[in-house]
Amino acid sequence: MTPSLLVLGGSAFVGHAVVAEGLERGYAVSTFNRGRLQSQPPAGVTALHGDRLDPSTLTPLGEGSWDVVVDTWSGAPTAVRDAATRLAPRAGHYVYVSSGSVYPPPLPVGLDESAATVDGSADDTDSSDYARAKRGGELAAVAAFGERALLGRCGLILGPREDVGRLPWWLQRMARGGEVLAPAPPERPLQFIDARDLARFLLDASQDGLDGPFNLVSRRGHATMGELLEACRGATAGERTTDAELRWTAAEVIEEYEIEPWTELPIWLPLGTEYEGLHGMDVERAHAAGLRCRAVTETVADTWAWMAALGGPPPVRGGIPPHGLSPERERAALSAAMRSSGS
Ligand SMILES: NC(=O)c1ccc[n+]([C@@H]2O[C@H](COP(=O)([O-])OP(=O)(O)OC[C@H]3O[C@@H](n4cnc5c(N)ncnc54)[C@H](OP(=O)(O)O)[C@@H]3O)[C@@H](O)[C@H]2O)c1
Repeated sequence: MTPSLLVLGGSAFVGHAVVAEGLERGYAVSTFNRGRLQSQPPAGVTALHGDRLDPSTLTPLGEGSWDVVVDTWSGAPTAVRDAATRLAPRAGHYVYVSSGSVYPPPLPVGLDESAATVDGSADDTDSSDYARAKRGGELAAVAAFGERALLGRCGLILGPREDVGRLPWWLQRMARGGEVLAPAPPERPLQFIDARDLARFLLDASQDGLDGPFNLVSRRGHATMGELLEACRGATAGERTTDAELRWTAAEVIEEYEIEPWTELPIWLPLGTEYEGLHGMDVERAHAAGLRCRAVTETVADTWAWMAALGGPPPVRGGIPPHGLSPERERAALSAAMRSSGS
């Protein structure tokens, strides 16, 4: 019989990848959202509509039955509770797309799923604290589905349709050409997951009946900062009138200019901070269960191809602060780096 998949969400970044993976596998796919981001669902998808913050509109979730539910919610935990409670009697497996943010700092390298998490509550109506909200969502999923709940603790997610603006910013920056402030060292190991690899793992794992928490990113060093930026340079090469030259700049200079890691220089974190574990989670449980991560060159090239096809700036989801470094601040830091190196 054809497996059935319900994606709570399903029309932005991660949800879209899950829907595409479900369709590719021949699943009968439904989505549940307000219909704001997508007026027409992809061919073959049954679109159900409602507002997760308004329980009176959740009626469609009380009517069907599904083998797998994937929930991408990142707001107040009560939305997970209200959906999961309705679905539990008629759905097989519940996959909650959680986050490594449930682990409180300091985040040492090698943190596995047994590490302590922040507190949270399934009954929390507040979403202002992201880590607490994600933990509350986890607890809500487990309360309703027990051993039929899988918690996907994702680290950094990249790939086509990214609506945060991390990889898209680096690609746009490389396309502009000139001297690019590149945070040294190039060997800095990164950890991330392509949304399409995440989608594949989540559906494989639910088919296999896996439950509990899984840290979901590549192995540490799957790519380095240097390999990522070279991949961005390579992908955008055809678009430039002047070449993009990577100027590897010491973290101390970047710090001196108060350039924010992670947001102004997206994806990058200096080595040795209390957030080191954001690029260093232990992911052996997921890899033993079949997680496979594609090459960084493919993630980068496909993201650039998606951006090019858009014909305009990539969308950024509401409430996300702008990512990237202004040309003025970049020039100032590059000049300072040149002075301090005496060249
Ligand atoms: N980006 C990262 O690096 C990262 C890292 C770790 C974890 N994560 C997690 O990954 C997930 C990413 O999700 P995504 O945004 O890509 O998922 P998505 O499912 O593709 O998009 C969000 C969906 O939620 C729907 N939605 C929003 N408000 C709603 C409401 N009130 N009622 C019903 N539906 C509503 C939206 O459609 P409508 O607006 O049409 O309703 C949309 O379909 C999040 O859980 C995030 O915490 C991300």
